[in-house]
Amino acid sequence: MKIAFFDAKEYDIPSFQAAAKGTDLEFKFYETKLTADTVELAKGYDGVCVFVNDVVDSAVIEKLAEYGIGVLALRCAGYNNVDIRRCYGKLHVVRVPAYSPYAVAEHTMALLLTSIRRIHKAYNRTKDFNFSLRGLTGFDLHGKTVGVIGTGKIGRIFIDICRGFGMHVIAYDKYPAQGTDIEYVSTDELFRRSDIISLHCPLTEETYHIIGREAIGKLKKGAVILNTSRGALIDAEALLEGIKRRIVGAACLDVYEEESDIFFRDFSGHIVEDDVLARLISMPNVIVTSHQAFLTEEALTNIAETTVANLRAYFAGEHLENELCYRCGKVEDCKKERSERCF
Ligand code: NAI
Repeated sequence: MKIAFFDAKEYDIPSFQAAAKGTDLEFKFYETKLTADTVELAKGYDGVCVFVNDVVDSAVIEKLAEYGIGVLALRCAGYNNVDIRRCYGKLHVVRVPAYSPYAVAEHTMALLLTSIRRIHKAYNRTKDFNFSLRGLTGFDLHGKTVGVIGTGKIGRIFIDICRGFGMHVIAYDKYPAQGTDIEYVSTDELFRRSDIISLHCPLTEETYHIIGREAIGKLKKGAVILNTSRGALIDAEALLEGIKRRIVGAACLDVYEEESDIFFRDFSGHIVEDDVLARLISMPNVIVTSHQAFLTEEALTNIAETTVANLRAYFAGEHLENELCYRCGKVEDCKKERSERCF
């Protein structure tokens, strides 16, 4: 079975080759992203494998169906880039629901510590044999209040890490976890009380710009914002304004609303056209990483092995454990609930 693998990165290829070894799957690695302009590359393949910034909209879905492709394997957890409802009846969509929530939660804490203890500045200084401590004063995490939005797999691991630091945790989740000792509060209360806010919810219509002008207006002065979830959870222009007005004390962003044409690529030596991103990066209290929170060896192995297992189950006609919910509306007669294929 031949799989067209879009947006392939150097780090993907070894783990996918290892996972596919000895199976009947053969990957063709394309550097380009899947879009309506590139979908033709999938012609003649049996399946398609995509990542976070490939665009699986109605035009792409129609074309894939026309080419007789019946499976789309996401090698990530989030799927805001896929028009899920359109896929129903045409394209089975499978994903990797959890590959290493630890990787993302640990990266979030790494960003927080780097930012508030000024490690990024100290690293550059001592590289230049500058041992001055001027401007490096940080603050203790112990005793601070962290507000976590989204208490799923990653959010809860982040909560445990924060508790290890002696922080007080409050949280907001549309579907609060039952049987836990997490103190759930409204978003308003979370914005008012938190010294640090960390986003771990999916990007949906409801969570789009959950950190926007209104939310920023409610923040404690100096609040630190962490986003390792999805860029569009934050209105980047409002964030920039909040930083300039000294309301937001620091921001650590592993994701950015307009990242799709920028992240994962080398623009050193080029002029970046995105003024908001350029201005954010120029701020002394902003740290940006390029959607790398997932990037650990353990996660890469899990991603490749789960994706290969998802594709093999599809071609073997088996039940697809990691098939997405297409929100088909047949709530009373849900095939997924009965561990059957949705269509
Ligand atoms: P999860 O599905 O286990 O948890 C998500 C949580 O968000 C759930 O508890 C859910 O109830 C909650 N939620 C849903 N709608 C909400 C709303 N409107 N308001 C508040 N909370 C809401 O997902 P997991 O594995 O913890 O991942 C969280 C997010 O992390 C993903 O959606 C993805 O966008 C992001 N992610 C980022 C990575 C990176 O490399 N930066 C890698 C993997 C995931």
